[in-house]
Amino acid sequence: MTDKAVFLCFCLLLKKGVIGDTDEVKSVSVTEGDSVSLNTDVKVQREEQILWMFGPQNTRIADIHRQNIYIDATNTIFGDRLQMDNQTGSLTVRNIRCEHTGLYKLQIISSRGTEEKLFNISIYARLPAPVITRDSSQCSSGSSTSNCSLLCSVVNVSAVTLSWYKGNSLLSSISVSDLSISLSLPLEVEYQENNIYSCVINNPITNQTQHNINITQLCQPCAGLDNRSKHMMPKALIAIITIIAVLLACIAAVVGLRKKKVYESGRRGDLC
Ligand SMILES: *[C@@H]1O[C@H](CO)[C@@H](O)[C@H](O)[C@H]1NC(C)=O
Ligand SMILES: *[C@@H]1O[C@H](CO)[C@@H](O)[C@H](O)[C@H]1NC(C)=O
Ligand SMILES: *[C@@H]1O[C@H](CO)[C@@H](O)[C@H](O)[C@H]1NC(C)=O
Ligand SMILES: *[C@@H]1O[C@H](CO)[C@@H](O)[C@H](O)[C@H]1NC(C)=O
Ligand SMILES: *[C@@H]1O[C@H](CO)[C@@H](O)[C@H](O)[C@H]1NC(C)=O
Ligand SMILES: *[C@@H]1O[C@H](CO)[C@@H](O)[C@H](O)[C@H]1NC(C)=O
Ligand SMILES: *[C@@H]1O[C@H](CO)[C@@H](O)[C@H](O)[C@H]1NC(C)=O
Repeated sequence: MTDKAVFLCFCLLLKKGVIGDTDEVKSVSVTEGDSVSLNTDVKVQREEQILWMFGPQNTRIADIHRQNIYIDATNTIFGDRLQMDNQTGSLTVRNIRCEHTGLYKLQIISSRGTEEKLFNISIYARLPAPVITRDSSQCSSGSSTSNCSLLCSVVNVSAVTLSWYKGNSLLSSISVSDLSISLSLPLEVEYQENNIYSCVINNPITNQTQHNINITQLCQPCAGLDNRSKHMMPKALIAIITIIAVLLACIAAVVGLRKKKVYESGRRGDLC
């Protein structure tokens, strides 16, 4: 009889405040702008209090007690982004931003004690689609005319890898961890190739692919490009010369008009 009582007491002691397994941190990765739900995996009991805290100061951001939901509307970091499920106490952060990165602590407080869980939210930027361009600097250098070099580029990225694929096989890749204003990866192809190339940008949680790159369309012969640039220059020159000629004509006309005004008063010009 006393043995049983001691055992029961021991169990209660064990349960009271010791249920919490704070060492367990659940990692959650989200793309900026998405919504994320942190699940309590419980059904809220009437006498329980469910408390959510955020950041190094364990700032209380939301709780539910006696079925009353409280969300700290004055919290400037979250604004109106927080939502709490009244059945489970699960917390949803809508339209998540970088400043919501960090540790979220869940406390389930009941007569049995306090249970704790930690969620570590990492937020990744939305990935831009890679842009494929012809690297025509190779044309002006002249030498190789059988190859065409393409550039796969993205701007303003961090913690990403950029890769060229031929079919399903990886040809090359480049990675950055810090913010990179512009990231490019070149690819040499031959004109009139029939292979299917794609350029992929990815971070640990998602990717964006530029499929079906049309080599024939992108890789026009260098000669074609040269002709165009050669014709561009004279056109610009002709335009400038025309403008100068018109200006000179105007000046001449004005000067002429003044002279005429002096000698033939009352006569008006119709130029300028
Ligand atoms: C819980 O939320 C649902 C909708 O989100 C609502 O219909 C219901 O009335 C709420 N229950 C309580 C007890 O507030
Ligand atoms: C949270 O995750 C980040 C990386 O995603 C890591 O650097 C950090 O140490 C983690 N924090 C905890 C407390 O696990
Ligand atoms: C890249 O980031 C800089 C600074 O954050 C910003 O001024 C610029 O507009 C961004 N460029 C693009 C294409 O998003
Ligand atoms: C042309 O591209 C092929 C790969 O497509 C490469 O093996 C070769 O070295 C390139 N030639 C020149 C002159 O760059
Ligand atoms: C890109 O993501 C999709 C799932 O969203 C995945 O099926 C595919 O394998 C990924 N591609 C690469 C190259 O990582
Ligand atoms: C690639 O572009 C060329 C020229 O614009 C076009 O004739 C050809 O049909 C395109 N090929 C594919 C596979 O779209
Ligand atoms: C480029 O110009 C040369 C002569 O200067 C001409 O023979 C050739 O056909 C032109 N190429 C294109 C693509 O117009």
